[in-house]
Amino acid sequence: MSWLPERQQRSWLQQLCESILKTGPVPEHIAIIMDGNRRFAVKKSIDRAEGHLQGFQKLAETLDWCLRLGLREVTVYAFSIENFKRSKEEVECLMELAKQKLARLLQEKELIQKHEVCIRVLGKIELLSPELQQMIADAVLFSKNNKRLATLNVCFAYTARDDISNAMKELALGVKAGEIQESDITDSLLEKCLYSSHCRPVDLLIRTSGEVRLSDFQLWESAYSCLAFVNVLWPEFSIWHLYAAILHYQRNYAQIQIARQNRDIERERLQRDSDYNCVLKEISHHNPDSATVQESVQKYAADRASRIDAFLQRLYEKRGSLLEKLIPGSI
Ligand code: FPP
Ligand code: MG
Repeated sequence: MSWLPERQQRSWLQQLCESILKTGPVPEHIAIIMDGNRRFAVKKSIDRAEGHLQGFQKLAETLDWCLRLGLREVTVYAFSIENFKRSKEEVECLMELAKQKLARLLQEKELIQKHEVCIRVLGKIELLSPELQQMIADAVLFSKNNKRLATLNVCFAYTARDDISNAMKELALGVKAGEIQESDITDSLLEKCLYSSHCRPVDLLIRTSGEVRLSDFQLWESAYSCLAFVNVLWPEFSIWHLYAAILHYQRNYAQIQIARQNRDIERERLQRDSDYNCVLKEISHHNPDSATVQESVQKYAADRASRIDAFLQRLYEKRGSLLEKLIPGSI
């Protein structure tokens, strides 16, 4: 099955629901924990592999629903680092499914380009086979400039805590190399070192299967998101469950916006205080007047911003070149 399947005709009731939902705020970015494939397989007396395959088909269908609703970005939890602890057969089955579906995606490059879909893979891909790493690099690099329609982020060999630890290591390396200073480290800089640094904020996070945990998925990114726990196994997720989750988001929209605004105000305040304290430490022995302090703080803030820009640019270039090196024939 293709990642962009043939469009299904909408019933009049679905069209009506969509028009009503579109009169309110529609989330730009949805993250999904697609849970319950194996329970679905047991329920339907089918193989586990078939359960996961139907899970993929549901993903393709859901992407189409999201595109129709005007969503710009979808992030899915396809394989966690914890999933490596599953039986050898199941891990192999999930890796094989990923290979098949990536091969299909690479065959459909023209279609992906035509629809301008950007594909990102978030996770520790060095834990995967060289073949899979190469396919991922190909998919990510060929689609990286597609921005018009939508972005699909596939979390693979991912956990949020691993992502956060990794970001902290990058910051520590940056301080050690003298690229940034310890005082430059803030939650907003750490956020820019995560795998999701180029993603929009997650507006709505959906988990299926009735479990009400985040299971180490998008822990940082979902701090200001609306959470929807849906009591249905992933392959049984329907367009009606998606509509209900969006309605739940719309009901909570105002509070979420207020919480985000308060966070931004607090971040700015902390940054101003930090810049001010750094300047005072540097110039306090001169006994400066307040105009001099103001001027020095402005200069310090500008220097800090360009120091951080250079650090992040180097980090993103390093990540891009690691992917490029995975493509055979690249230097
Ligand atoms: C969770 O159900 C599902 C997974 C661990 C795999 C999810 C993968 C897909 C839906 C296929 C996507 C593939 C690609 C290439 C993007 P579970 O196995 O935990 O089932 P359970 O909760 O019933 O035990
Ligand atoms: Mg599960």
